[in-house]
Amino acid sequence: MQPLLRVERLYKTFRKSKEQVYALKEISLQIARGECLGVVGESGSGKSTLGKVILALERPDSGEVWLDDVPLLQLKGAALREQRQHVQVVFQDPNASLNSKMPIWRSIMEPLDNFPDVMPPFLSGKRTDRIGLAAQLLELVGLPLDHLARYPHELSGGQRQRVAIARGISLNPKLLVCDEPTSSLDVSVQAQILQLLKSLKQTLGMSYLFISHDIASVQYMSDRMIVMKDGEMIDEFASSELTHQDRHIYTKLLVEAAS
Ligand SMILES: Nc1ncnc2c1ncn2[C@@H]1O[C@H](COP(=O)(O)OP(=O)(O)OP(=O)(O)O)[C@@H](O)[C@H]1O
Ligand SMILES: [Mg+2]
Repeated sequence: MQPLLRVERLYKTFRKSKEQVYALKEISLQIARGECLGVVGESGSGKSTLGKVILALERPDSGEVWLDDVPLLQLKGAALREQRQHVQVVFQDPNASLNSKMPIWRSIMEPLDNFPDVMPPFLSGKRTDRIGLAAQLLELVGLPLDHLARYPHELSGGQRQRVAIARGISLNPKLLVCDEPTSSLDVSVQAQILQLLKSLKQTLGMSYLFISHDIASVQYMSDRMIVMKDGEMIDEFASSELTHQDRHIYTKLLVEAAS
């Protein structure tokens, strides 16, 4: 079967003082339907840039991204807007995606409000019943209903990240990009959020690009992993084979540093 996402020969450079840095250097990869691809690598290795290019938030210098055979980087205007529903994101900092002046239910409904014709198959009821739909999304991410009318500052960091996840899944995306989704959270809460993301992947059948510098969470979440260093993909393997002796020396160093 053909992959859900194909990334071909992505290059992206940034100018840093007088030097040119490669954020992405000849990155090619694929994600199958229902698969979670994990991305690890040290700070500055290009992980977030890769995510942003796939989300069409950043333009590469060259290369192409295909989602179900649609060349994302060729799209403009209405066609690009239409495609955005299919690739959604959960960032590290939930505060960045939540409006402090909006009650939670409105933040949750914002993506669906932007796509009035979308009705995810896992929601029921009337499309116009916005509070009813927000309530179902809240339940899917394990928050009690009385949180609907609360404001972001009345929630804990973990609860806010659950709200950001509710937004992320609300349009029934084909791919959810998670960029360090637990890095801003207390250690005790991190595992709960990972569990939630993992169970949502199963129940909703989404594919994930899961980015983290925390190699253990990536191994827990993903089916396959890639390792990035200075913009290059230097290793690629099934997550179960992370500690296999054939791993790249740099991957071994990352594993060693984490244990
Ligand atoms: N908007 C930008 N302007 C200039 N340089 C940038 C920009 N975004 C990223 N870079 C540079 O590109 C490289 C890759 O950055 P990126 O944010 O993708 O790394 P990362 O792996 O996500 O790092 P981290 O783990 O710290 O989040 C770095 O050298 C970074 O400084
Ligand atoms: Mg990053």
